[in-house]
Amino acid sequence: MSARPKVIVTRRLPPVVEATLRERFDVDLPTEDRQFTAEQLQRALAQCDGLLPTVTDKLTAEVLAAYPIRTRMIANFGVGYDNIDVAAAKAHDIVVSNTPDVLTECTADLAMTLILMTLRRAGEGEREVRGERWTGWRPLHLIGERVTGKTLGLVGMGRIARAVARKAHLGFGMRILCYDPTAPSPADLAAAGAEPRSTLEELLADSDIVSLHCPSTPATRNLMNPERFARMRPGAFLINTARGDIVDDDALIAALRSGHLAGAGLDVFRGEPNIDPRYRELENVVLLPHLGSATRETREAMGMRAIDNLTAFFAGRPVPDRWRRPGTGGRSPACAATLRQLSKYL
Ligand code: DGY
Repeated sequence: MSARPKVIVTRRLPPVVEATLRERFDVDLPTEDRQFTAEQLQRALAQCDGLLPTVTDKLTAEVLAAYPIRTRMIANFGVGYDNIDVAAAKAHDIVVSNTPDVLTECTADLAMTLILMTLRRAGEGEREVRGERWTGWRPLHLIGERVTGKTLGLVGMGRIARAVARKAHLGFGMRILCYDPTAPSPADLAAAGAEPRSTLEELLADSDIVSLHCPSTPATRNLMNPERFARMRPGAFLINTARGDIVDDDALIAALRSGHLAGAGLDVFRGEPNIDPRYRELENVVLLPHLGSATRETREAMGMRAIDNLTAFFAGRPVPDRWRRPGTGGRSPACAATLRQLSKYL
């Protein structure tokens, strides 16, 4: 019998990651690449020492109420924790970790992709060519908006937002505004070429493009509501590579239908992959299937980072990316303060 920790993985992972998992653990890799059901998650929690889930695995308090739980460590494959009820996990004495840093640049690249596609109407153009509806070059064909020189407003100023700021400022000459109640350091603001705004409302009113970079928590759910869309400039654009439930879909769809917003670029959705079908009817929305971190380099790095967390835990060493309660260390104090501030506006 193997003395190695038993690890269950919920989704297929890059080959190098699966091979390393096989080397280090007594690992169960899925034969099918499907979302685990609540029952499958509960069975896994009863059978393994370490679970390696992803954003599609909803480890709710109910799922974690399964008894008996053998799992001592949940190494999430992803930077977001919103798929895991971390308080419930902690109550069961389960250590939770994520994979920060390694997806920063690629997620920021995807935010830039959405900005470019949305303002330059690339999705519409591609659909036209594929649909054999392109009748040739003409001066008034699919006229978009110039990207260079626009004012970009960032909601949240964490790692990904700062990377977007650098790319947009240095690459596209954009003016960068940001709203983050934790008051980013002058060095971070200078490196990103960003000017802070003291309220979210000011940021919305002053930006041509608003890009969301805050986590999904009870405090940020529906942060972008009808009142906040009304604050945005007429003809502005919304970009979301964070989480779908930060946006009130009814409010966004109304703003896009009325023309108050010129467009939106969305990589994440409430209830994905079952997105609000009304989005598909709107030409002025670019819809991507949660591709933020989807590059070979990043997905491999995310897997290796999850493995490093599992390895450290089972070797009795500090877990590098361990979740800690807000206010007790790690990334949490800044995050806690941000959320306290953001919740004031809800
Ligand atoms: C993340 O890491 O949070 C990405 O959105 C994938 O879950």
